[in-house]
Amino acid sequence: MSETRVKFLLGEQDIPTHWVNLMADLPGGAPPPLNPGTLEPAGPDDLTPIFPMGLILQEVSPEPEIEIPDRVRDVYKLWRPTPLFRAHRLERALDTPAHIYYKYEGGSPAGSHKPNTAVAQAYENAEAGIHKLTTETGAGQWGSALAFACRFFDLECEIWMVGSSYDQKPYRRSMMEVWGATVHRSPSEVTEAGRSQRKHPTGSLGIAISEAVEVAAQNADTNYSLGSVLNHVLLHQTVIGQEALAQMAMAGEEPDVVIACVGGGSNFGGLAFPFLRRVLRDGAKTRFVAAEPAACPTLTRGVYAYDFGDTVGLTPLMPMYTLGHDFVPPPVHAGGLRYHGDSPLLCGLVKQGLIEPRAYRQNETFEAALRFARTEGLIPAPEPAHAIRAVIEEAEAAREAGEDRVILFGLCGHGHFDLGAYDAYLAGQLQDPEFSEADRDAALARLPEAPALA
Ligand SMILES: Cc1ncc(COP(=O)(O)O)c(C=O)c1O
Repeated sequence: MSETRVKFLLGEQDIPTHWVNLMADLPGGAPPPLNPGTLEPAGPDDLTPIFPMGLILQEVSPEPEIEIPDRVRDVYKLWRPTPLFRAHRLERALDTPAHIYYKYEGGSPAGSHKPNTAVAQAYENAEAGIHKLTTETGAGQWGSALAFACRFFDLECEIWMVGSSYDQKPYRRSMMEVWGATVHRSPSEVTEAGRSQRKHPTGSLGIAISEAVEVAAQNADTNYSLGSVLNHVLLHQTVIGQEALAQMAMAGEEPDVVIACVGGGSNFGGLAFPFLRRVLRDGAKTRFVAAEPAACPTLTRGVYAYDFGDTVGLTPLMPMYTLGHDFVPPPVHAGGLRYHGDSPLLCGLVKQGLIEPRAYRQNETFEAALRFARTEGLIPAPEPAHAIRAVIEEAEAAREAGEDRVILFGLCGHGHFDLGAYDAYLAGQLQDPEFSEADRDAALARLPEAPALA
């Protein structure tokens, strides 16, 4: 056996004790979310109908670090710490001098990074005496993570799954039901919001969010849980980056570039923010690349403006890059990336030039995913396939420049429930849907009245 090291592993005692709150470091602070009626900053009162106070306090916290409750760390032990791999075989196949590392979150029970926040959110809601959580899910990764987490804190779970993904990934629905959740195809007939969107049968994350928020807002014992976008969700995911910092130190390397895919920003923030804090505080030179689908190019082609987080307009107005709250992205297989907006915190960092966004078409991401699966073995979910596309670009650029570039990326989920998408790719049947300027212009023309963002 060769001496070459492939995995960098931590022990249970190394599970982080705190989450990293990058809000405390954001240069110039962040514009606040607004109440859509008054256009005043949204306060805790705007959030209490659907979120517990424990999470609201995390959402607005100025503290640089927030302690992780012991009961949450106990559940994390089921799969954390997660491994960091060095992709020697991919490096060889690309004939690159770059060193490529990936942090693999697909070993969690639900198969992605999503349980890191699902467990924390289920815990806070149970502590607040809530009985049921509602949520939306795209490809089903988030829904299955929340269904799993609810089991550990005796909560019921009701989920609206985006129509196109419900049809493409039936076993994700089975998984949620195995953990005891109720799953609806969105748009559904059980909510006002769903009935108002019958004309969009493939659905969207924005529509499914409206359905789940509506039910939570109408029932006192029910809260809503969001799988991305909000500060507290990105906060919970920072266990990923903190472990990766320790594992890169074990490898004796510093990443020159950190890459992750972006749907609402939680996987990206989770991996990148602990590294970004070192850029903001200590002048580290790391670059950051956020990879998104060309079919839903929020960061690369959206406008920076206040917009609703959902389609129907039930949420506070969020300062973010948006394609318009009623933009319905084409049904690409990376269902978790089909969101019209993005985390305000992440958008602020893109606006300041600290993160570089790049958009990729569906076929080129599957081509990258296959190259990865055929060299490293793991079959990536379609979402991180976008990050792998960017990794290959960086590795090829390193070869051209003759540079020992160190690349770290987030392999945030496996693709075992996405094999229908791989089948379609292998049969040459995957579409590269065009992002339509006309659709976007129409959606942007319907942005809500709100102050302009600088
Ligand atoms: C595997 C996977 N990766 C990435 C994402 C994108 O979400 P986020 O940007 O919040 O990490 C999702 C969302 O469902 C997902 O399931």
